[in-house]
Amino acid sequence: MFSEAEIAAAIRSLAEQIARDHAGEDVLLLGILKGAVHVLSDLARELDQIQPGPSRLYLDVMAVSSYGNASRSSGEVRLIQDTTHAIEGRRVVIVEDIIDNGLTLSYLNALLSARKPLSLRSAVLLDKPYRRIANVKADYVGLTCPDEFIVGYGLDYQERYRTLPYIAKLRPDIFSDPD
Ligand code: PRP
Repeated sequence: MFSEAEIAAAIRSLAEQIARDHAGEDVLLLGILKGAVHVLSDLARELDQIQPGPSRLYLDVMAVSSYGNASRSSGEVRLIQDTTHAIEGRRVVIVEDIIDNGLTLSYLNALLSARKPLSLRSAVLLDKPYRRIANVKADYVGLTCPDEFIVGYGLDYQERYRTLPYIAKLRPDIFSDPD
């Protein structure tokens, strides 16, 4: 669906947009485990190369889950692991691999804005806008994704395929969901 080169270009575009909006500022990049591991890593290193850009980058992660091993969201987002950095008074950019029904990002926005950050923005590599439930938009979007079940570059199917360097459509004969 998206090659390594297309992903790299999208990450570069996200980094440029974030750099423009945060030039001279300290920024906390907050990756949402587990899907955002590759995006966080590549985006942080790309952002570090851009001048002018953030004066200092801090990295943190939190883990939430709404899908478990199912291909459909449970509709309930659970906090599994919190940040180590305090959020109050910081410029925070949430980093996600994908926004689909929007419940995860909506949950994160509510949770983190209550902690009084100086600013709170969100960067997603992939926007899948077809099944949105929550009225939420990411501030920075890398790629718009077709309405397919996709895997790779952090995205999994029952914990498989996260380590693919590209993003692929899962073949329907492999994809069977008893849930
Ligand atoms: C995925 C993805 C996002 C979320 C987006 O996480 O990484 O966090 O779903 O979906 P939504 O917009 O429909 O809420 P998942 O819950 O599958 O956990 P994982 O990242 O550990 O795979």
